[in-house]
Amino acid sequence: MKEIEVSSAQTDYSVVVGADLLRRLPELAAERGINAAAAVVSNSTVGPLYGRSLAERLALAPPLELPDGERFKQWNQVERVCSWLLDHGVHRGATVVGVGGGVLTDMVGFAAAVYLRGISWIALPTTLLAMVDASVGGKTGVNLPQGKNLLGCFWPPLLVVADVATLVTLPPRELRAGMAEVVKSAWIGDRGMLALLDRELTDYQCLPIERWQELVVGCVKVKAEVVSEDEREAGRRQALNLGHTLGHAFEAATEYQRLLHGEAVSWGLLGEAVIATSRGLLSGDNLHRLRTAIEYLRPLPRVDDITADVVLEHIAHDKKRDDLGIAWALPSDDGVALGSRVSADEVREALAEIAKLGPAMAERPAMR
Ligand SMILES: NC(=O)c1ccc[n+]([C@@H]2O[C@H](COP(=O)([O-])OP(=O)(O)OC[C@H]3O[C@@H](n4cnc5c(N)ncnc54)[C@H](O)[C@@H]3O)[C@@H](O)[C@H]2O)c1
Ligand SMILES: [Zn+2]
Repeated sequence: MKEIEVSSAQTDYSVVVGADLLRRLPELAAERGINAAAAVVSNSTVGPLYGRSLAERLALAPPLELPDGERFKQWNQVERVCSWLLDHGVHRGATVVGVGGGVLTDMVGFAAAVYLRGISWIALPTTLLAMVDASVGGKTGVNLPQGKNLLGCFWPPLLVVADVATLVTLPPRELRAGMAEVVKSAWIGDRGMLALLDRELTDYQCLPIERWQELVVGCVKVKAEVVSEDEREAGRRQALNLGHTLGHAFEAATEYQRLLHGEAVSWGLLGEAVIATSRGLLSGDNLHRLRTAIEYLRPLPRVDDITADVVLEHIAHDKKRDDLGIAWALPSDDGVALGSRVSADEVREALAEIAKLGPAMAERPAMR
């Protein structure tokens, strides 16, 4: 088991990473002086797998199980969680536990933030993406019909417990999508991890549990270091947008139906690497290295039918834009180049380049 500290304006907290930690939650919380949990919230998929047994272990009523899916990441579910907490007599000093992927932990964190003007919560992420990304950094929230995560706030949990043993039941496509964020984190902040990826990417689907622990710890360290320095995304936190400016545009252009978030990030990393190479930020060797890492995350749904105009239109509406447009985070030889202003022509060229990869990326990789 490994523990990583995250600093935040509201509260410092630990991310504990290891195998078979869910059953140890009561002692992990008690050791850190955290109040016993009062309620567990999960969803219809993760509840039967992990949420119910956890609630039993905590001697609590069965968990509230929300419907599963990004389309349910809405204010009405937050309201439902709050009413349920009220009905179960959860008071201000109590702690609510969210068990599930990023959709669930974002919603439970948001409910904890607004319920009785804010109560404590514990995040138990059960997807790779939620372990390495969503549960670290304190962002919580839900979607609006106009766009993703438009309603939310910073409300860090008191504790994050990433039990890598839960990855065993995660569908392979979700695991691959989460690996895109692992590649991103490795590129941003841990070249040692990249070396590990170079060795392991071929058969990451059957990685031993200790390797998962190593990868999750590596990524959490990168994110923890970045958000501890810049919680509100004034500077350094922008590095975490690597692959995301194009990635978000691909997701939006396909109406969030075709691509999982991590798959869109894979395409985003490929496209942004092309832009970075033509700007001289990324060497040919490093372009190849990043591409090779993404190739192991195949099959990826294709994006070559999306026109450059549509992608540019979505970039123009990116919520991270400022008066000058978007400050891109581009991959560079030593990590990330922040604040780059990218022209429409550069985007067009990058899309033309990655369109050539479409058929090959739709195939499963051959194992080495
Ligand atoms: N707060 C942040 O900083 C932050 C960062 C990145 C992403 N996010 C958010 O995270 C969300 C995406 O999260 P996600 O990729 O975890 O998707 P998700 O929460 O939809 O989970 C993916 C699927 O896997 C299922 N699942 C979860 N754990 C499982 C397990 N162990 N075994 C079997 N099935 C399991 C889920 O029920 C779901 O069907 C998005 O809404 C995104 O906005 C937030
Ligand atoms: Zn992401």
